Amino acid sequence: MPLEIVRNDITKMKVDAIVNAANESLLGGGGVDGAIHRAAGSGLLAECRTLGGCKTGKAKITGGYNLPAKYVIHTVGPIYNDGNQGEKALLESCYRESLTLAKEYNCETVAFPLISSGVYGYPKDQALKVAIDVISDFLLENEMTVYIVIFDKAAYKISEKLFSDIAEFIDDNYVDEHTNYRRESIRMNAPMAPCAKRKKADVDFLEICDCKALPLEEDLDAKLKQIDESFSQMLLRKIDEKGMTDAECYKKANIDRKLFSKIRSDIHYKPSKPTALAFAISLELSLVETEDMLRKAGFALSHSNKFDIIIEYFISKGNYNIFEINEALFAFDQSLLGA
Ligand code: APR
Repeated sequence: MPLEIVRNDITKMKVDAIVNAANESLLGGGGVDGAIHRAAGSGLLAECRTLGGCKTGKAKITGGYNLPAKYVIHTVGPIYNDGNQGEKALLESCYRESLTLAKEYNCETVAFPLISSGVYGYPKDQALKVAIDVISDFLLENEMTVYIVIFDKAAYKISEKLFSDIAEFIDDNYVDEHTNYRRESIRMNAPMAPCAKRKKADVDFLEICDCKALPLEEDLDAKLKQIDESFSQMLLRKIDEKGMTDAECYKKANIDRKLFSKIRSDIHYKPSKPTALAFAISLELSLVETEDMLRKAGFALSHSNKFDIIIEYFISKGNYNIFEINEALFAFDQSLLGA
């Protein structure tokens, strides 16, 4: 997965480069700066002394010394005042400059802390959004695996509004495996017939019924052909129908090129459920089309699974931003979408 949100101590990350949230002196400090200097040892400070400091929004690179990472990229985030002093542009520049340096040094894996979100006071949910936006734009044009490392999960949060909306959606839809097994099995087996024919009960169970995906005048033999097409065939058909390139599709799905070529070359390839869903999100499929694509990979959306309900929440809202979805999955301690 080209962009991952992980909970860890960045000094432990075995990557080509870790990024340090430093100050302009580059002579160490508290927070992640202090942790990195302690773990790297005195050699790091000695090299930093030769750099002559670093301007806010810029980045400089040193060796990793005793760290598992080969390099440390030091960047200086903005001190957050009120959000109207150019803080966002400076924070975006920190990520952009650090990624440019990582690319120059042929790094394949890079780990970022949430820059400026500690001592410098940048609100964590906004800091995370800036990080995800800049990194995902970079990954559309570059091959690299980037980790956003969240140190203290407690402090990590998505926006309160989004969190409570999703929590409410889960409450409304979460089916306890034991008490509602019959309801769930009907839901999953309800015939995909056009709404007009569907019994009231079935429409209830399906919550969202997307008749657009099943117009009565649908060409029957095209439909029959689609029924026995494999996951891989449906994926390639949908990429064509959406007028996307392969690269646009798998990058938007946060899937690496190697996995995509495996799926493309093997007509019977069976992806994992997060991978299948990542492609459904990338193709911006409706809920009915998503369930059809999942079925071809041997899965079904289930209301006794929070991961599935969160995906259904975003599809029902028409929000196909996979990085925002992964942020929400992370906030609810679920695995992330992608490979
Ligand atoms: N691994 C990963 N993330 C960490 C770690 C760690 N070991 N330690 C702290 N963090 C997280 C914090 O939880 C926060 O979300 O890094 C983020 C950035 O916090 P700070 O380290 O306080 O950095 P910042 O807000 O950019 O302030 C920079 O603080 O440490 C000084 O010298 C530094 O003056 C500079 C200022």
